[in-house]
Amino acid sequence: SASLRTHAAAKGKFIGAALATSPLSNETSYRNIAATEFNQVTAENAMKWDATEPSQGQFNFSGADAIVNFATQNNQQVHGHTLVWHSQTPSWVQNLGASAMRQAMQNHISQVVGRYANNATVVSWDVVNEIFDENGGWRTSFWYNTLGQSFVADAFRAARAADPNARLCINDYNVEGINAKSTAMYNLVSSLRQQGVPVDCVGFQSHLAIQYGFPNDLQRNLQRFADLGVQVRITELDVRMQMPRDATKDATQATYYRNVVNACLAVTACAGVTIWGFTDKHSWVPDTFPGQGAALIYNESYQPKPAYNAVHDAL
Ligand code: XIL
Repeated sequence: SASLRTHAAAKGKFIGAALATSPLSNETSYRNIAATEFNQVTAENAMKWDATEPSQGQFNFSGADAIVNFATQNNQQVHGHTLVWHSQTPSWVQNLGASAMRQAMQNHISQVVGRYANNATVVSWDVVNEIFDENGGWRTSFWYNTLGQSFVADAFRAARAADPNARLCINDYNVEGINAKSTAMYNLVSSLRQQGVPVDCVGFQSHLAIQYGFPNDLQRNLQRFADLGVQVRITELDVRMQMPRDATKDATQATYYRNVVNACLAVTACAGVTIWGFTDKHSWVPDTFPGQGAALIYNESYQPKPAYNAVHDAL
């Protein structure tokens, strides 16, 4: 039966995957599935600040270019991830004073976004990532501590200047349901847009876990953001479980994947769903959440799991 991307395209949505540079160059199965099943890709790490500007003014686009070239060859779009984040950002940035930090941020955005601005493959960016606390306050990152809230509007304006055609997103996790954090994001997006700050899109990471339950108000939450006039998208979907895997957990996982795809399909402004990888052979989950894993739609041997079929059938 046809690929995920064929079905997604027929519904006017994208189905994406985060890609890592090393298996992309070393593993045929990885490359083949990435090329045939998905019509959108995100660099799992290759476009982050520590990869693209490890020391000030010294840019390295080798990994980012590898992802973009792969996508271009396979007629896929790239979602740029990510420009301004508290994590995977070199200490030289973190140690700058306010005006130097603002300038470094604007220069980074201008160089990284500018590199792909005339490349039809890179169509959107996560401009700021994970700026909220779980209770809806601002995360006290080095960005916030040094620059206050202003770094967000400055980052969006710099990204718009670097590529007037790119769709500019704010992205976060644990904002899939209606809760204090997603409401803080909602209020900020609303207020920024009222001020003319170019926020076009909201990304819902969707790092889910079967033991925590499904956010049943996902569709309603996506819709309230859509009603602000922004595009919404699922940016980093995975559904982890306590190991070991078994058939019951696989079935629950499959329903979570299906529910996410259905929520996006039900919201006109939802552009698509990106999965944070595709094979359990290459996933951040076991390294990040001890004892958990098997969060993706193919197993470690590149065989499709029930979650693959659920996504396929939903699309
Ligand atoms: C993760 C990558 O998957 C890992 O390989 C890396 O070591 C750490 O970052 N939220 C994000 C992503 O926005 O960039 C993170 O990706 C996962 C959580």
